[in-house]
Amino acid sequence: MADPREVLADQVQRALSAAFGADYADTDPVIRPSAFADYQANVALPLARQLGRPPRDVAGQIAAQLDLAGVVGRAEVSGPGFINLTLRDDWIGGQATATLADPRVGVPLADPGQKVVVDYSSPNVAKEMHVGNLRTTVVGDAVVRVLEYLGHSVVRANHLGDWGTQFGMLIEYVLAVGEQAAREQLATGEINAFYQAAQARFDADPAFAGAARRRVVALQGGDPGTLRLWRLLVDGSKQYYNTIYQRLGITLTDADLAPESFYNPMLADVCAELEADGIAVISDGALVAFPPGFTGRDGKPLPMILRKSDGGYGYDTTDLAAIRYRIVDLKADRLIYLVAAEQSLHFQMLFAVARQADWLTSGISAEHAVIGLVSGADGKRIRTRSGGQVKLITLIDEAVERAAQVIADRYDDPALRAEIADAVGIGALKYGDLSVARSSGYVFDFDRMLALTGNTGPYLQYATARIRSIFRRAGLDPVTAHGPVLVTEPPERALALALLGFGTAVSQTAATAEPHLLAGYLFEVASAFTAFYEACPVLKAPDPRLRESRLGLSALALRVLRSGLGLLGIPVPDRM
Ligand code: ARG
Repeated sequence: MADPREVLADQVQRALSAAFGADYADTDPVIRPSAFADYQANVALPLARQLGRPPRDVAGQIAAQLDLAGVVGRAEVSGPGFINLTLRDDWIGGQATATLADPRVGVPLADPGQKVVVDYSSPNVAKEMHVGNLRTTVVGDAVVRVLEYLGHSVVRANHLGDWGTQFGMLIEYVLAVGEQAAREQLATGEINAFYQAAQARFDADPAFAGAARRRVVALQGGDPGTLRLWRLLVDGSKQYYNTIYQRLGITLTDADLAPESFYNPMLADVCAELEADGIAVISDGALVAFPPGFTGRDGKPLPMILRKSDGGYGYDTTDLAAIRYRIVDLKADRLIYLVAAEQSLHFQMLFAVARQADWLTSGISAEHAVIGLVSGADGKRIRTRSGGQVKLITLIDEAVERAAQVIADRYDDPALRAEIADAVGIGALKYGDLSVARSSGYVFDFDRMLALTGNTGPYLQYATARIRSIFRRAGLDPVTAHGPVLVTEPPERALALALLGFGTAVSQTAATAEPHLLAGYLFEVASAFTAFYEACPVLKAPDPRLRESRLGLSALALRVLRSGLGLLGIPVPDRM
């Protein structure tokens, strides 16, 4: 139940303090993978420099102090002063056996647990969700699942864009086409068409434009009739987003909506507080804050705009109210914003003002978890064949259709085939997003994400199906496998060592809000399992003890893969 690297680090630190005194007990032992042993400790090199002694001597002195009775089986100095470390077979086997019996699969609860607000998905009402929104939605959902599994208290914050001057135009357009038609168009996802038609009318028809401007004033003034029409727009779009969330297995519900309008009643007070503290000042009739250290190309300080000269509030103000609310009212320890890279400056300035205002203090972490751009094959925005913007729901349907083709020849039963195609298609789509570092851009490519080999959803799903089929053939339930796990062959060793790293992979994913770390780890496990399966017979193992052991190892691999994929929000079909 312990990551081998962490246990080795601890062992080397003990040896360090035995060799050089207690002052060295916290020195980083620099544990790295090794081509010649399980791992290597590289601490002797920096330490030798510090002590002014030959690195190989220092390495030898540390190695001599290593306890070879429990964890480490062999320690050898090599090269300029590396210490090659081989773990004891019985230690690895024992740890794997214990992990198999652990309901948390070797992932300890975080201590202390934190209150974490995760701002993700956050689409804009009356704007189509696109692959970019898909990315924050999928990555954010994996982040909240991981945090919750570690025992943190998570607040999902869907910062729905439901407010702004464009609503004047949209409301007038609702009146123009009729409420019923408008609602239907929005709920079925014809959102862009709706928006574009409204915009076209606004640009072409001065009377309409005038009415739209008056509508904004009525909306901000809280006119009941206007609010009712506004709500129609919001509800229609919400219905569409919920369809997408359900289809993708996203854990967001209406209870997680903290839309921009939610903060409206707080805006005046936020402005007053910042003005009273001298953080915000009146400039050209507007109330603005100039967080120190932010200047534009012209060298002039960059403002956060709190109140426009016409009295209106905007995106900046809402985010200031939101951050104050999340820290002061929700008492968050950590804030994670999964938002597009292009908003980096906005968040840096937001955090800077929140620090000036003393909301964001040293014990609280605020992170802009940058989401990179997803583009089509030509490096540009993904478009439909006719050149329009792709509806997200269309993309999802296409993934499932293509998945059905990939597995078409395997299943005759149409219901079963549809169920598996759904899991494979959606799994591929989501995993394609999750396997890439969230800040890097990538090219959206169905063929790549649906491939049955490589770091893909289908490959990982397939690995779990393969393990299930071993147990099916044996007439056994993987849940009852208990080992004990024995390490006899190198592929067994490699698989067992990989499986022991689950806890670290999960906690690193939580610490960095980078699900691709977990994805990469699961790929490593699946690859190690494939190598093991090819080299080590399980059901036909040479003796019963080895058969039990290999069944145990396979069952543990299944549990790690299933839990890990579950944390990523990837569905796992029983067969494939
Ligand atoms: N609705 C915004 C957009 O689509 C994203 C909101 C992100 N969250 C926030 N608190 N600003 O660009």
